[in-house]
Amino acid sequence: MDPKFHDYVRGSLSMERYLHSVGTANTAKELAVRFGADPERAYLAGLLHDIARESSGSDLVSEAKQQGIMVSEIEDKLPVLLHGKVAAARARMLGVHDEEVLSAIASHVTGRRGWTKLEQIVYLADKIEPGRDYPGVEAIRRQASSGDLRGALKLCLENAIKYAGAGGASLVHPETVVVLDEISQG
Ligand SMILES: [Fe+2]
Ligand SMILES: [Fe+2]
Repeated sequence: MDPKFHDYVRGSLSMERYLHSVGTANTAKELAVRFGADPERAYLAGLLHDIARESSGSDLVSEAKQQGIMVSEIEDKLPVLLHGKVAAARARMLGVHDEEVLSAIASHVTGRRGWTKLEQIVYLADKIEPGRDYPGVEAIRRQASSGDLRGALKLCLENAIKYAGAGGASLVHPETVVVLDEISQG
């Protein structure tokens, strides 16, 4: 991997989020080996997934519009939901042209209907990297270690909905609800 990606992440994020990004990259690589995806592509997507996470809401909305990203009503209300899509646009500008890597960066916030294994792995890695500590994380790690990718994702998505629901049910991204439905049906 080109060292410029690592340098960019280090230069554009706080130490805490930089460590989270490296943790996500390493976890994504391990999960890729376990579940049969490309470890290098998983690492790169994990490393870059949060490069827009520290931008303000108004910057995320204006950058998204500039990049031709559609801003939905809920994203306008809760711009942090855009940080994956904006990160993917930035990664493209940095020279990443692997569409699946870009898609994994974009979809790590809400999941995506019909997502690929690489996208699923990056989504999961973000939620269970070693620096993560929240109620329920151990159960998700156990599912992932036991080889149950679908079960681990289901728990992550349920958590995401529960957590977002705490701020009012209207703040749950509709895509997450669809993805949970899809994964529950197998
Ligand atoms: Fe994120
Ligand atoms: Fe993250």
